[in-house]
Amino acid sequence: MFPCDFAWGAGTAAYQIEGGWQADGKGPSIWDTFCHEKGRVFGDQNGDVGCNSYELWEKDLECIQQLGLTHYRLSLSWARLLPDGTIRHVNQKGIFYIPVFESRRTQCSFDGCSPALSHYNYSTVYICPTGVQYYNKVIDDLLACDVSPMVTLYHFDLPQALQDQGGWKSTGIATLFDNYARFCFQTFGDRVKLWLTINEPYVCAKLGHEDGIHAPGFREPGIAAYLAGHNMLRAHAMAWHSYNSTYRMTQKGAVSLAINSDWFEPSRAGCAEDIAATERCFAFTLGWFAWPVFVTGDYPEIMRSAIDAQSKKLGYNGSSRLPSFSKKEPAVLGTADFFALNYYTSRKVEPGGGCGKVLSIKSDRDAGQVLDPSWPICGVSWLAVVPYWLEETSQAHQAVYITENGFSQVGPLQIEDVRRSEFYKDTILEVAKGKFVLDIYIGAKQIAIRVQANGTNDYENIILIQHLDILVLSVWQMLPNNCMTECPEENECYSGGPNVLICLKLDLIHHQSGKQMLVDEASTIQEDGVNVRGYFAWSLLDNFEWADGFSVRFGLFHVDFADANRRRRMYHSGREYAKMISEYKR
Ligand code: NOJ
Repeated sequence: MFPCDFAWGAGTAAYQIEGGWQADGKGPSIWDTFCHEKGRVFGDQNGDVGCNSYELWEKDLECIQQLGLTHYRLSLSWARLLPDGTIRHVNQKGIFYIPVFESRRTQCSFDGCSPALSHYNYSTVYICPTGVQYYNKVIDDLLACDVSPMVTLYHFDLPQALQDQGGWKSTGIATLFDNYARFCFQTFGDRVKLWLTINEPYVCAKLGHEDGIHAPGFREPGIAAYLAGHNMLRAHAMAWHSYNSTYRMTQKGAVSLAINSDWFEPSRAGCAEDIAATERCFAFTLGWFAWPVFVTGDYPEIMRSAIDAQSKKLGYNGSSRLPSFSKKEPAVLGTADFFALNYYTSRKVEPGGGCGKVLSIKSDRDAGQVLDPSWPICGVSWLAVVPYWLEETSQAHQAVYITENGFSQVGPLQIEDVRRSEFYKDTILEVAKGKFVLDIYIGAKQIAIRVQANGTNDYENIILIQHLDILVLSVWQMLPNNCMTECPEENECYSGGPNVLICLKLDLIHHQSGKQMLVDEASTIQEDGVNVRGYFAWSLLDNFEWADGFSVRFGLFHVDFADANRRRRMYHSGREYAKMISEYKR
């Protein structure tokens, strides 16, 4: 069972679908530059036209509606809004003006001007910026169809002009990103309530700055990726603080960053070396970005010590390659209102790969990763990543969104993509199993009730009461939580979990004396466990899959890239996902 406000979504990213790479004043991004260099991308393909969503947005909207999505995740192209990356130059066909950040609403008198512009008091001319208009239309159309947008500010496509000033390796990028984020919050935040600042900082940092297979294409092992990742964290934190201090009160939205991680398991169960290697894998992927934001405000100790040990081994002269967070800057810890996870696969881990003679993340990590051949291609109990994560954090009550999950197709077209449908089905059933725990505090005493919903409407036999030494708690009733449900009797204590509404008759009996006990008035009832609030399939459409060009297809809709109109056709998996949504949506 899913909570009634569960987000049923699918995602895309600007460079992967929009095309219109030079349309209406858009500036070039690093992906435009990268793809236009020979030999960078499969078949020298590029996203110049992509799915042409810049011109065919209405077609995408039709796809969204056919699936019955409640949410759609899109990204904004920074260079479409701000061609040179700075707020001094908003995309409005060459005329520069300076928007004054202020919350005062001014009447917009310009014909055809979107209402969002009424947030601004322009110090120069009133002109509707084209990039802004495009996204205003997308957002307004979504809302008109009862679909909530989840907006990513940065999905790999840095304005080239900022790359020319050092890109993510430069310290100043964080402020520029913060300005861009504020611009977006101010322009779209009246309608957008779910924000992701940066998508997969791990991928941007490692593939773009160490492996050279993503833009900007740097091959600078062992140093550049850590630096770029560090500046992404600083940029994210600054943007979150801006939202928190300036926009949260009025806009009432939530901001996070989308972190990717596989689930890692030791190759040989119980083998100490494999366990340690597994921990390093988590530290160098999930932990690299999640620990600073959610756990300690700093990188995982395992990561820092592995990097330092490797530096020493290779005789690297100098201070740690992993930068430190400055106390003078806004804190990174706590800068996320929910946990956003991009999850695709699981891997078995053993030591290895650490003997390289060069500095690199791989050698720092010293862990080899393999897919277990005995695991079915789908049906892996992948959600395990989330409880692990929650147990490790101090913010166990955090809402979790699976912001990406998907299954690619290569080779000849298969509209009847049965394996992908099975993957989605199995995965979504795992999400439905989301466990949660209620912690009830009675004075200093704590009672934990573990509830595991089993993905059906049957709530019998799914509750385990843990008797603590002196108290017994009897459960009175559990009801499906469809947001309309209320506990039928007064004086009950209840809590809506992700799957059920639990009505508790608080018969708290002293175990030995048999005396009735009262719940401390000041006590709280808290949910805990895996509080999955939404699932976003990747992707709505077949699209430009970065270094793989159009050779790898992730869509719920097939896109015919040979067709001038980029015809969209629903895959079997799209039909199945739509069925699941209509079955589970409440
Ligand atoms: C993660 C990225 O965010 C997305 O852009 C990409 O297409 C998918 N993974 C699949 O590789």
